Amino acid sequence: MASITVFGSGNIGSAVAGIGVKAGADVQVIDRDKSKAAAVSGVTPAVWGEPITGDIVILALPYPAEASVVADYGAQLADKVVVDPSNPVDFGTMDLALPQGVHSAAEELAGKLPDSKVVKAFNTDFAATLASGVNDGAPTTVMAASDSEDARQALQAVVEAAGLRFVDAGALKRASYMEAFGALQMVLAMSGATQWTSGFKVVK
Ligand SMILES: NC(=O)c1ccc[n+]([C@@H]2O[C@H](COP(=O)([O-])OP(=O)(O)OC[C@H]3O[C@@H](n4cnc5c(N)ncnc54)[C@H](OP(=O)(O)O)[C@@H]3O)[C@@H](O)[C@H]2O)c1
Repeated sequence: MASITVFGSGNIGSAVAGIGVKAGADVQVIDRDKSKAAAVSGVTPAVWGEPITGDIVILALPYPAEASVVADYGAQLADKVVVDPSNPVDFGTMDLALPQGVHSAAEELAGKLPDSKVVKAFNTDFAATLASGVNDGAPTTVMAASDSEDARQALQAVVEAAGLRFVDAGALKRASYMEAFGALQMVLAMSGATQWTSGFKVVK
C-alpha cells in the first residue's frame, strides 16, 4: 500500500485522510496549523513547510491554494502521484472560474508539475459520502482521470482497500468533464434539489 500525504484538514482533507487510514496506509496530513492536522484521527500531523512523506499526495485545498503548493513543494512533488480534488468555481456565480484557455484545474496543475503524475479524483463526491464510504446504501464511487496508468492504479488500490468503488474516467483531459460534474453537484445541493450528504451515484 502506498503512503499518503494530504494537504489540508478541512472537509475533504479529513475525509480522504480517513480513506487512507481505512485502507491501512501511512497517512501524513499537512496544514498551516498543525493542531488542525493533529485533530484528524490516525494520521501523522505536520505543519506547512515540513517535508512530504507520502507517495500519493492529495491537495485537499481551495483551487487558488494549489499554486502555493507548487511554489513551496514543487521540487518534492517530482515523481509523485498528485491528486487534485478541487472544484474551481466562483462561489458568487457558481460558474467555473479558470484562467482563459485553461480547460481544467487538474490540467493546469499538470502543466506546472511536469515531473509529477497528476490525477483528478474525489471532486465528484461530497465530503460526507467520502467520509462514510456510503452513498444511498451503496459504496461511494470515486472517479479518477489521469494520463498515468500507474498513478490511477495506485489510487484505485487505496480507494478499494477502504471499501469504496473506483471508476476509471480515462485521460486527464476528462478532468474538465469531472469539474463541470462537481460544480453541477454543488449547484443542485445549493438549490435544495439534492443534499450535501448525497450526490451522484454511478451504476455500472
Ligand atoms: N467539501 C466538499 O464536499 C468537496 C467536494 C468535492 C471537492 N471539494 C474540493 O476540495 C477542496 C477542499 O474543500 P474543503 O471543503 O475540504 O474545504 P475546507 O473544509 O474549507 O478546507 C480547506 C483546507 O484548505 C486549507 N487552506 C485554505 N486556504 C489555504 C491557503 N491559502 N493555503 C494553504 N492552505 C489553505 C484550510 O486550512 P485552514 O483550516 O488553516 O484555513 C483547510 O485545511 C476544494 O478545492 C473543494 O472545491 C470539496
